[in-house]
Amino acid sequence: MVMHFEYAPGATPIDPDEALSLIPKHITSQEDLNAWEEMNIVEGANWINRQKIIQGLGEGLIRELHNRMFNQTWLWAGTFRKIAKSIGIDWPQISVALNNLLENAAYQIDHQTMPNDEIAVRFHHQLVLIHAFPNGNGRHARLMADALIMNLGGERFSWGANMPLTTPGVPRQNYLSALRAADNGQLKPLMQFARE
Ligand SMILES: Nc1ncnc2c1ncn2[C@@H]1O[C@H](COP(=O)(O)OP(=O)(O)O)[C@@H](O)[C@H]1O
Ligand SMILES: [Mg+2]
Repeated sequence: MVMHFEYAPGATPIDPDEALSLIPKHITSQEDLNAWEEMNIVEGANWINRQKIIQGLGEGLIRELHNRMFNQTWLWAGTFRKIAKSIGIDWPQISVALNNLLENAAYQIDHQTMPNDEIAVRFHHQLVLIHAFPNGNGRHARLMADALIMNLGGERFSWGANMPLTTPGVPRQNYLSALRAADNGQLKPLMQFARE
């Protein structure tokens, strides 16, 4: 059975080779896949909520969260992409870029160079820009930012009043335009969106 994938605007299409890596062979519809992924992601969220993010902020933690979010769904859970995507840096540079980002975030946290919300939202944007994984980068980077802000003593982000962002619609459009503003150096719309 060949899966037919549908994508929300701004979603990264799954490469045909990557699609071969679907673990539950009984899944044949996008709806079933979404529900399955959500169950898996809950386990990742429960795990990251128990971690001390600030002390353990490294590449291992980033990959482990992605692994725990998708390890029952995709064989490539927790592994960096090895192909180009329409968004994201050149894949051979993922590890270096990620470690730069993690060092910068650690510095910002240590020296309180900006408010914690700004540190976490900036981190979210930079993490999705690197686009380290074949898929799931948006959901992973939102969970990471949530974990970061809560470890810094803040409230979990609402990301557009907790409206669904994975399906097409106004909330996702607002999220994507806030990200594009951040691409152009304006972080305010994304910071507002995260606290709507
Ligand atoms: N212009 C952009 N700038 C930064 N990030 C973007 C942009 N467009 C899309 N994204 C991010 O990429 C994500 C889509 O990548 P993807 O790997 O498919 O994640 P997911 O499967 O969790 O939706 C979006 O949810 C968003 O977080
Ligand atoms: Mg996707």
